[in-house]
Amino acid sequence: VTASIGGASARAALDVIATTRSIRRYLDRPVEPAVLSEILFAASRAPSGSNRQLARFLILGATPEAREARLLIAGNARATWAAKAERDAYDLGAAASPKERLARTMREYVEGLADVPVLLLACLIRPGAPASDEGASVYPACQNLLLAARALGLGGVLTRWHRGVELQLADLLGIPAGVAIHATISLGYPAGRHGPVRRIPLRDAVFEGRWGRPAEWISEPAGTRHAGSGQTSG
Ligand SMILES: Cc1cc2nc3c(=O)[nH]c(=O)nc-3n(C[C@H](O)[C@H](O)[C@H](O)COP(=O)(O)O)c2cc1C
Repeated sequence: VTASIGGASARAALDVIATTRSIRRYLDRPVEPAVLSEILFAASRAPSGSNRQLARFLILGATPEAREARLLIAGNARATWAAKAERDAYDLGAAASPKERLARTMREYVEGLADVPVLLLACLIRPGAPASDEGASVYPACQNLLLAARALGLGGVLTRWHRGVELQLADLLGIPAGVAIHATISLGYPAGRHGPVRRIPLRDAVFEGRWGRPAEWISEPAGTRHAGSGQTSG
């Protein structure tokens, strides 16, 4: 472990951050335990409120219960996506439109979700009563996990596909009362390229001194391309 980072390694770290997209298509290739272990180590380095370290990761591996949990989450994802696709008229666009491409990717993703190489639950042992900001002690770990996966040539996506089936999952997997599931993350070796993440222009996201006042000194790397909110690079 190097304490001082600069030059080429700084550039490499920033490139990892700038190319960590949501990856929803995976090769049919298992993730080696040592690689998964390294990714989880990175996740566990994340900060948490008062350094309480109450984030926990439950890997849905090869046990019958885990298989059942995967099927439950996948069924929930299919239903959730079908409802959203219908609500947002996702399937109606021309075949080549970005919206239609996303719809196809999402459909394939939810259809194959039970069989993704790695599926895990990011959980929090609640320190007290449920609180609306408690996810703040889990999501930094999730992003660390995704960045480490990207650095090691894998890709993944943070999802909320567990929403609505938390009780069944708790029952199946022995998750105690007082533990909240905050994310369902899938991981694997990507079937496509990572490509750059696209976001709104930085000057629309950074203000100085007063809400809405752009920071005049803000700049982006040459060639940065943008996408509005709701659009995705995937
Ligand atoms: C809180 C949160 C919830 C998300 N939920 C889902 C989800 O349920 N399903 C999914 O496929 N992606 C989910 N995502 C991934 C986002 O759709 C993705 O980050 C966004 O579209 C940007 O895409 P990109 O990273 O490929 O640019 C979620 C992301 C976050 C941060």
